[in-house]
Amino acid sequence: MATGRIPYALISGLVLVIGVSYGVSRGLYILSDGKIAEDPSQPTPATYAAVDRLMEYDPVRGARAQAGLEIYRHRCRLCHHRSGRGGGKFTPSLQHHTAESVVAILNIYRDGQKFGPMTDLMAPWARDLSQQEILSLGEYIEVLASVKALR
Ligand code: HEC
Repeated sequence: MATGRIPYALISGLVLVIGVSYGVSRGLYILSDGKIAEDPSQPTPATYAAVDRLMEYDPVRGARAQAGLEIYRHRCRLCHHRSGRGGGKFTPSLQHHTAESVVAILNIYRDGQKFGPMTDLMAPWARDLSQQEILSLGEYIEVLASVKALR
C-alpha cells in the first residue's frame, strides 16, 4: 500500500510544480482563495496565444514578435499599457498599427525628428533601439492590434 502511494504523491507533486511554473511564466498567478488571476503587469493569455499562433504559421515573424514581447514588457508597457491601448491624456493607443507603421514611426523618433506633439516624451525610449529591436516591436504591436480585433 505505502509503496504504491509514493509514486502517486511524487507524480502529483511534479504535475503541480510544472503547472504552477507554466502559469507563472504565462502571467498567471493563484490568489489565496485558490482562484487563478492574471498579473496585470504581464501580457494577457490571449496575447501569448496569438504570438504562439503566429509562430506556427510564420516562424520568422513569430520569433520577432516573441522578442518584441520581452522588449515591450520592459520598456513600453508602463505608458502604452500591456494591451497597447495607451493611457492617460498623452499616451496614444497602438492598437491600430501594423508592423510597418510602427517601424516607420519608431525610426522617426530614433532619428531625433518630431512626430506628434509629445515627441519629447516618447523619443528617449526609441533612441537606442536597434533595427532588429524595432522590427520585433513592430511585429509584437501588430499582434496586440489583432488580439484587440479578436475580442
Ligand atoms: C514615458 C511614456 C512612454 C514610454 C515608456 C513609451 N512611449 Fe510610446 N509614446 C508615448 C507618448 C507620450 C507618445 C505620443 C508622442 C507624440 O506625440 O509623438 C507615444 C507615441 C508612440 C507611438 C506613435 C503612436 C501614434 O499612433 O501616434 C508609437 C508607435 C510608440 N509610442 C511606441 C512605443 C514603443 C514601441 C515603446 C517602447 C520601446 C514606447 N512607445 C514607450 C509615451 C511613451
